[in-house]
Amino acid sequence: MKVTVVGAGNVGATVAECVARKDMANEVVLIDIQEGVAQGKALDLWESAPIHQFDTTLTGGSDYALTEGSDICVITAGLPRKPGMSRDDLLAKNASIVRSVTEAFTKTSPNAILIIVSNPLDVMTYVAYMTSGFPSHRVMGMAGVLDTARYRAFLATELNVSVKDIQAMLLGGHGDTMVPLPRYTTIAGTPVTDLLPESRINEIVERTKKGGGEIVGLMGTSAWYAPGAAAAEMCEAIIKDSNRVVPAAAWCTGEYGCDGMFIGVPVKLGREGVKEIVEIELDEAEQKLMQESAEHVRVNVEALERIEAGASA
Ligand code: NAI
Ligand code: 2OP
Repeated sequence: MKVTVVGAGNVGATVAECVARKDMANEVVLIDIQEGVAQGKALDLWESAPIHQFDTTLTGGSDYALTEGSDICVITAGLPRKPGMSRDDLLAKNASIVRSVTEAFTKTSPNAILIIVSNPLDVMTYVAYMTSGFPSHRVMGMAGVLDTARYRAFLATELNVSVKDIQAMLLGGHGDTMVPLPRYTTIAGTPVTDLLPESRINEIVERTKKGGGEIVGLMGTSAWYAPGAAAAEMCEAIIKDSNRVVPAAAWCTGEYGCDGMFIGVPVKLGREGVKEIVEIELDEAEQKLMQESAEHVRVNVEALERIEAGASA
């Protein structure tokens, strides 16, 4: 198994490290426009192999010939938002990066599975899908695994229980409109709604929605440990064909009332990529939140289409 990670920055290097340390692939290739950074991080990680005891080899550079025949590509290349840059600027710049990276990668790995991490996540996943021409089950976005991990971590702290005993599901776009589902959250089988008052659950849900911003506020840049581990967990489910059911941005054609868009839904992951979108029953309030989130994703996709139509006019 060969995994390529494009973008050897904070998230990309962490994905490479998590994949290698779990020894799930034979080979990891790190690609970045900063050639030395990709080469250097890959070499540094490979030099940790005798200590961590993994056999996954790591190489890096900026030449896509290195990536030939990859089974999975995790795309983390992109810019963070900088002062003076509007959301539209970021959308257009990252779309252009994700498009060029996808074009370059897919030429030599036409059968790979793409996992997009670059933000804004749901729109960038759409860009990679349109650019690659891959079937939709081989393109997905990573956000829900991260967002549920944050939610589970906050609950573990609140309830003083092991994170291992917390099961949770979450829907929607990656951002403030995400939809954590307390009704489907259990602690060793006991619904969280039996263990915490509604007001406290709501506070934890709100903290989860703003989890990315909380880290930016503390560090001045966005998170990478949990995002990197989350993307690696998705790689593992695919490589091991494990049928894990996790939230991921998947191409919806009517599921949860979403049609013709990538948005966070529960998916069954395996060797072919998204094997199935799992539909759980939503009550009226949950369905309404999902529709609001879908509307937010749609507005972003339309904004990108408008910017690009303007640029080509
Ligand atoms: P970073 O700035 O540390 O790394 C980005 C890397 O991309 C840099 O090394 C840069 O040289 C590289 N890059 C830029 N253009 C490239 C190109 N055309 N080809 C190859 N490499 C290129 O940023 P970080 O923290 O790793 O974040 C990466 C992206 O992931 C951002 O868009 C961020 O918003 C997003 N993100 C998404 C999360 C999610 O849950 N989906 C969570 C955390 C971050
Ligand atoms: C996060 O949720 C910024 O999307 C990134 O940490």
